[in-house]
Amino acid sequence: MRHASITFDRAFTIGDTDPRLFGAFVEHLGRCVYGGIYEPGHPTADKRGFRKDVLELVKELGPTIMRYPGGNFVSGYNWEDGVGPIKDRPARLDLAWFTTEPNSFGTNEFVDWCRAAKIEPMLAVNLGTRDGDAARNLVEYCNHPGGSAWSDLRIRHGWKKPHDIKFWCLGNEVDGPWQMEHKTATEYGRVAYEAAKMMRWIDPSIELAACGSSGRNMPTYGRWEDEVLEHTFDQVEFISLHTYFNNYAGDTKAFLASPDLMDQFIEEVVAISDAVAARRRSDKRIMLSFDEWNVWYRTRRVRADRVKEGWPVAPPILEEIYSMEDALVFGGACISLLNHADRVKTACLAQLVNVIAPIMTETGGPAWRQTIFWPFAQMSRLGRGTVLKAIVKSESYEASYFDPRGKQDLYYPIEAPYLKASVVSDDKGVSLFLLNRDLEGSLDVTVNARGFGKLKVAEATELRHSDLKAINSKKEPLKVKPATLKGVSTKSDEITLALQPASWNVIRLES
Ligand code: AHR
Repeated sequence: MRHASITFDRAFTIGDTDPRLFGAFVEHLGRCVYGGIYEPGHPTADKRGFRKDVLELVKELGPTIMRYPGGNFVSGYNWEDGVGPIKDRPARLDLAWFTTEPNSFGTNEFVDWCRAAKIEPMLAVNLGTRDGDAARNLVEYCNHPGGSAWSDLRIRHGWKKPHDIKFWCLGNEVDGPWQMEHKTATEYGRVAYEAAKMMRWIDPSIELAACGSSGRNMPTYGRWEDEVLEHTFDQVEFISLHTYFNNYAGDTKAFLASPDLMDQFIEEVVAISDAVAARRRSDKRIMLSFDEWNVWYRTRRVRADRVKEGWPVAPPILEEIYSMEDALVFGGACISLLNHADRVKTACLAQLVNVIAPIMTETGGPAWRQTIFWPFAQMSRLGRGTVLKAIVKSESYEASYFDPRGKQDLYYPIEAPYLKASVVSDDKGVSLFLLNRDLEGSLDVTVNARGFGKLKVAEATELRHSDLKAINSKKEPLKVKPATLKGVSTKSDEITLALQPASWNVIRLES
């Protein structure tokens, strides 16, 4: 058995978790909207067509902010197609996913759905096929109280009160050649700056995120952030990051180590953003919006998993089935996000339902939780507060993580501590998020919690399964689920516990 230790002090902090760190993402993609959150005629649907069984699971999952409508989809989206009487809305070919978009669900329905789920809406504007003009009109339509053409149109459509959308993404993955109207950093930087300026003139209270690289392995990574921020620095609060973890190589140890690259990615983007600030002698700090993150690989590279021929409406694409192993990597990513709470203020799990998602549904049938549902729900419920600077001492192992981009095979060396941990404190106590990456051995952990007095165990769970490939399904919806972690012992400010091999553990201690 290996041994590890964690030492923290209530006074030594990283930063507060912003409530928007616990966001997710709904794209017009596959069955995320149609057959996911929206399915008129489903036995549980309300009169607006919102699936109540899905709404219940979303509430349990606990996302705080929801990004919409894309993703790649937004780069060809005419938002005007999705408002007004449904019978008059056009069906359009979507060139992101090669489907037909019926437009029976649009911005107003999305805002209503968010209100029903008690989630803040986040909108992305199309800076692919469109520009600042369509973007500023959408801000006027959504946020202007009335007395102008676009705001009066919203009122005529039945939404008298402005939607008051605060968080806006300036396009999506514009650095990627797969994007409709892919742009260079100069082209994008200019259009994003001008769009942001006009959007903010209409509503000065909004917050804006410029597109960073669509992955750390993009050839333009680094230079892209630098130039985009050089253009947009004065008009944006955020730069975005996207990451999808994979196990193409079938190398579980490297897969489990891969969230450590998320730490590096975040720290590099912080450094680049601060370098742009330094060149201006500015004390403004650009925050990070990690607005797409998840495990995604099985349904990614093979065209048949991404595209169904014949331009269908809402085909079952990107329906990744998550295993126990994926949930561990996912938990590692939760820890990376929490540990950068000082600069990552917004994050969106991509996506919410059916499409690389924590919730699965059968069209016309039931809904259930995937394995990755659990770490997210626990992080959202217990991760609110102040992240502490935890000193983690643990043996580590060497891994080489394979992360291909196009035809290029890229390998990243990682020195991964067996224990990955985050500690979040609040008025009542402290929550520990602990990942044991040792596949064979259990890990004996001593926790030194300074400044809390005597702590008692309020909750302790572990997520593990003897089969790392175990999944939840319609037939066995709770095959992988958290169980009580036994044997957590507290003695004054020292806590001892044993973590099982390959396990995700959450411990809540209160005074
Ligand atoms: O989330 C799936 C896709 O991944 C999004 O549409 C795109 O932004 C990213 O490449």
